[in-house]
Amino acid sequence: MGAALCTIIFCVGAHAIESSVEFHNTVTGETLNLDESLPQGRDTPGVKTFLQTGIDPYIEDRSCLKRGEQIFLTACSGCHGEIGEGKVGPGLNDDYWTYPENQTDVGIFGTVFGGARAQMGPQVQNLTMDEMLLVIAWVRHLYKDDVKHAPWFNEAQKKTYQPYKLGEKFSDEEPGICAAPPRQAAAE
Ligand code: HEC
Repeated sequence: MGAALCTIIFCVGAHAIESSVEFHNTVTGETLNLDESLPQGRDTPGVKTFLQTGIDPYIEDRSCLKRGEQIFLTACSGCHGEIGEGKVGPGLNDDYWTYPENQTDVGIFGTVFGGARAQMGPQVQNLTMDEMLLVIAWVRHLYKDDVKHAPWFNEAQKKTYQPYKLGEKFSDEEPGICAAPPRQAAAE
């Protein structure tokens, strides 16, 4: 019975990550193999949504931005600057992109996952896929230019868009998809 329900694809690729979206290396165009990602953080609700839709659901979700910022400050700001203003690596907070596909969530995921040229190494062994989505949400939040050139925001996000202000803080209690599940009331 179990065998009858088991499709060829499912059995052969029992451990393969299923994705409706294909991701490509930003420089070579090669298809990225998601199975090379770190084992943790593969099946969070955010990653699942992203692999189905190609939309990073953490963008402008206040509950996700604090962790996104922390990852950015550890893994990216040394080369891209504290607020993505650019250093060794190019600015990430303006409307100029060396690779225009980085204006899409799928494109920038490909760059973070698989790297680009020079010091922009692949992050596939540094960050989980969930962390990649978090840090991308932070990069989008740092954006400071005209919202017209920010196709990664949806219509609602475009309406509420404010250029990033240095020093903006997020608490651990922000509501949203990254919020910790409500704690059980202590039994007394
Ligand atoms: C060791 C330095 C270094 C680190 C760390 C680094 N980058 Fe980069 N990054 C670069 C360089 C250099 C480039 C330019 C590469 C090119 O043009 O091909 C780049 C390019 C990029 C681009 C393409 C920008 C464009 O204009 O198209 C993105 C997006 C990006 N990095 C995101 C990130 C993120 C997110 C992180 C952290 C997870 C990160 N980088 C970490 C050095 C770095």
